[in-house]
Amino acid sequence: MLEFLMNLFASDFMGHGYCYLWRPQIVWLHVVSDSLITLAYYSIPVTLVYFVRKRRDLPFHWMFLMFGAFILGCGTTHAMEVWTVWHGTYRLAGIVKFITAGLSVGTAAALAPLIPKALALPSPSQLEAVIQELHREIGNRQRADEELRMSHDHLRALAARLQNVREEERTRIAREIHDELGQSLTAIKIDLTTLVRDLPMKEGPALQRSQSMLKLLDQAIQSVQSMATDLRPGILDDLGVAAAVEWAAEVFEARTGTKCRVSVPDVGMATDPERTTALFRIFQETLTNVARHAHATDVNVRLSQENGNLALEVHDNGQGIRQEQLSSRKSLGILGMRERALLLGGELIIHGSPGAGTTVRVCIPC
Ligand SMILES: Nc1ncnc2c1ncn2[C@@H]1O[C@H](COP(=O)(O)OP(=O)(O)O)[C@@H](O)[C@H]1O
Ligand SMILES: [Mg+2]
Repeated sequence: MLEFLMNLFASDFMGHGYCYLWRPQIVWLHVVSDSLITLAYYSIPVTLVYFVRKRRDLPFHWMFLMFGAFILGCGTTHAMEVWTVWHGTYRLAGIVKFITAGLSVGTAAALAPLIPKALALPSPSQLEAVIQELHREIGNRQRADEELRMSHDHLRALAARLQNVREEERTRIAREIHDELGQSLTAIKIDLTTLVRDLPMKEGPALQRSQSMLKLLDQAIQSVQSMATDLRPGILDDLGVAAAVEWAAEVFEARTGTKCRVSVPDVGMATDPERTTALFRIFQETLTNVARHAHATDVNVRLSQENGNLALEVHDNGQGIRQEQLSSRKSLGILGMRERALLLGGELIIHGSPGAGTTVRVCIPC
């Protein structure tokens, strides 16, 4: 081994300087040029290693390292050129060349199959185009979102307007039915009562017919009154939401036979007609749902005014609403209730558990 190393560094050949006849110009021309090439070649691997360490995401980064090794080999070959001007260690120079040759051939062999893969990588300009396209796409999405939000707002405003118009219309029709139709029927009833009283007893059949007409009239007056009340209960405008809730619960209990307990605050509730109406309509829809879907035997209603909110909670002990019914697009009644609450800055929460019933809670700021 030692002998091999000594042989490697043995300078038993003539240095290149002899070939240059030791003429200073030619000697220095070669020495300076080879030295500069060596320096340049040594600096390139350093730069490459730095670059690869900084950009770890770089594809085929091992190729850069191979280039680094190959250029380092080339640099060393040129360094040997400088050395061998004076020292004829051509065995060592040959081995350095041989190593460099290995590195060069390896790099060249690895480079060729890499080219198709490298070509398949998107170029910076292609990436730039993709980024531009993404920016455009994001812009379009944002515009579409904005339009969607606007049309959603418009729809909500339209729904609010429709609710108001519907409520006004109901109030007007209720008043007309009650005042016009109800009063005319009452006037007819008074006239007919007088007529019946004045009829001589011997007009038996006419008397009988008139009395059955009076009965029919009574029925008509009653249905006119209940129609007017169904459309817009006067109690809501006259006595407020607490009285209207109690009244609606009584009507519900009488109609369905389901026990309905109501708890309302003792003091009067200060709130405007818009909120009162919304809360009352939500209550009506809730009771209709209990009657139609719950199969409940007990309903508990709690109306309260707390922390600047008007709150109503209705709990039934029926079969319990299911999650998919809550979020179904077909549940328009629930959607309407929710919208009514949202329009006034409030919220509606419905919770159901199988067999344990359903709780509807609505909260509206007042
Ligand atoms: N109190 C309740 N108990 C059980 N199920 C209910 C209750 N309220 C509503 N649901 C269910 O939720 C669904 C949606 O209600 P809703 O939106 O009011 O529509 P609709 O009453 O017209 O069916 C109902 O079809 C019913 O299946
Ligand atoms: Mg319903």
